[in-house]
Amino acid sequence: MTTATNANNNKRIRIFDTTLRDGEQAPGASMKPEQKIIIARQLARLGVDTIEPGFAISSPGEFAAIQQISRELQEVEIAGFARCVRADIDAAVAATQDAARRRLHLFISSSQIHLDFQLRKSQDEVINMMKDMISYGKQSVDEIEFSPMDASRASEEFLFRMIEAAIEAGATIINVPDTMGYALPEEFGPLFTRIRKNVRGGDKVVYSTHCHNDLGLAVANSLAAIRHGVTQVEVSVNGVGERAGNCSLEELVMAIETRGGSFGVETGIRSEHIYETSRLVSRTMHFPIAFNKPIVGRNAFQHESGIHQDGLLKNRNTYEIMDPEAMGIPRNMIILGKHSGRHAIKHRVSEFGVQLTDTELDDLYGRFKEKADVQKIITDDVLMQLVGESTDSVVE
Ligand code: KIV
Ligand code: ZN
Repeated sequence: MTTATNANNNKRIRIFDTTLRDGEQAPGASMKPEQKIIIARQLARLGVDTIEPGFAISSPGEFAAIQQISRELQEVEIAGFARCVRADIDAAVAATQDAARRRLHLFISSSQIHLDFQLRKSQDEVINMMKDMISYGKQSVDEIEFSPMDASRASEEFLFRMIEAAIEAGATIINVPDTMGYALPEEFGPLFTRIRKNVRGGDKVVYSTHCHNDLGLAVANSLAAIRHGVTQVEVSVNGVGERAGNCSLEELVMAIETRGGSFGVETGIRSEHIYETSRLVSRTMHFPIAFNKPIVGRNAFQHESGIHQDGLLKNRNTYEIMDPEAMGIPRNMIILGKHSGRHAIKHRVSEFGVQLTDTELDDLYGRFKEKADVQKIITDDVLMQLVGESTDSVVE
């Protein structure tokens, strides 16, 4: 893979997890406070740097969950999320009061379409609101993250003006969101270089990104941002979030782990906990994971074609670029179906202690193919039933 100019030099990318805030905004994904606390504990075990546990102003239960997460998880930084509105800030500040480390995450829209139709405010009014609220938040919390919402559809002139004003008012982290998942990697990455170059004070802050997946580009856009100096990426487990979701934690982390050399970056994620975290979030939110979802989908490490199965049995690296066990995924890489070959079938039955003669294998193979024509997947139970019909097989 050719590498573009890399603004990082083996930098640590901070993982900001928003499963419990943006992830919970996915239709039908809302959770009870006690469920949020269980997921937050698992996120800490996974090694995320920052957890955004929710939107404190939204309900008393939400406030209580954020408060308990802030009190209990002293090893992670907690982000209090708020609009540029005093009541929101007061709630976020109060809910995160007992965190060992915390930041206040403030956002306001930056695209003209949002200003005209959602906020119904002029550019000057929005800048003033944002400056006032950053100064207000700064009275309680030192670290202020500011997000110009819908940044990838805003005019660059206004976006730069807004970021400059946010830095002047005291923002220490600038998070540039691709709120509608509209950006393309080749335009989104260089935006960060232009911001640093054109915004006064732009070299003094930390840059972050927050990408949505409407065009399936959230991970690609986040990686492009990393190439242009971003050191924090906002993600969610299983990519849950508004509409098509957010940048998926497991996909981003494994892209960095697998191809990290070409980025010169690493994360602090303990990847052996990826699978259990993914299952916990899926179960809790009642959000099934697509079979073909990268990393954590059922089929992500399973192979049905005879050619692939044969190659894998000779050397795993023939058709595997990651070790599933390193992510806590049980190794069961071979799915038996109509595309499977003799070698895979012989291998699978040998795992059950059954040694087949060539004649028994021929017989089993014929009956296996007939069964596979009507049944998509041949489970181990069905396979062993077929084996049982072979009279001379030896079970050790
Ligand atoms: O998608 C978005 O723009 C957000 C921000 C408020 C960070 O979730
Ligand atoms: Zn978002």
